[in-house]
Amino acid sequence: MSITTGDFRQRVTVQTLAEKKRKREPIVTLTAYDYATARLADEAGVDLILVGDSLAQVMLGYDSTLPVTMDEMVHHARAVRRAVHRALLVVDMPFGSYHAGKHKALENAVRFVKESGAEAVKIEGGLSRVPLIRRIIGAEIPVIGHIGLTPQSVHRMGGYKVQGKTVDAIDALLADAAALDDAGVSALVLEGIPREVATRISRQVATPTIGIGAGPDCDGQVLVFHDLAGLTFTSPAKFVRRYCDAGELISAAIRSYGDDVRSRAFPADAESYHLPRTAQDAQKAALGATQATSSARQKQAKS
Ligand code: KIV
Repeated sequence: MSITTGDFRQRVTVQTLAEKKRKREPIVTLTAYDYATARLADEAGVDLILVGDSLAQVMLGYDSTLPVTMDEMVHHARAVRRAVHRALLVVDMPFGSYHAGKHKALENAVRFVKESGAEAVKIEGGLSRVPLIRRIIGAEIPVIGHIGLTPQSVHRMGGYKVQGKTVDAIDALLADAAALDDAGVSALVLEGIPREVATRISRQVATPTIGIGAGPDCDGQVLVFHDLAGLTFTSPAKFVRRYCDAGELISAAIRSYGDDVRSRAFPADAESYHLPRTAQDAQKAALGATQATSSARQKQAKS
């Protein structure tokens, strides 16, 4: 199942990301989880579309990313694949899919490539992930790293907290970034870390950095589509910029539809199908005859 054409001239590849870092051109990244939004993102010129495991929360209503399964990720990634013709398509490895050994991790990464047309996979974590990341890259699957506030580590972190605020924590992040860079990741997501630390990492590593809550000095930025569009039900994090209030727009549209159905303003005659004129006349005549018969019967019944 692949809709990719094999013609890479117009497409964003992992080489394009490296080139963009060299040319200091910001990499525009956005999450998408379904055909419609992925198509809008691709047509709007987004460089990298991520089927993030955040879909657990924004699409499936779970309260963290932990429960989402490989099957659920594949299901959404396949829909996104059908819509994306230009952007690089990256799929998140969900919690549990790479924690049970290198072999299982590789099997799951291969599954994303084969079943959903992923062009790269994203894995959370630093130094400790290097052996399995090398194994996946060795199997010709590009990997995107992800360090800082890694939502799959919510229990270890004791909540969704900004990381890298002490000297030791900053040193650990710098070491993670250097190790992933050395392992050959194609990009590195920096989430929820102080701007100053993200700037240091972005300058230190050759791989492009993509920030979310990491300040403006990263080589690119990523937002969750539902945050950008105002489709979330809790107050947004500090780093979120809402570019529209689609939630309010959609609610107002649904309320208007309900009002129109209740008042019979919807559907109008123009929104109805019609028989051809001759058949309409025959139907009117038949309706007239039915009405005449039924009123005659009513009169009979009363007398
Ligand atoms: O799952 C996701 O949406 C992500 C981004 C926030 C980077 O990992």
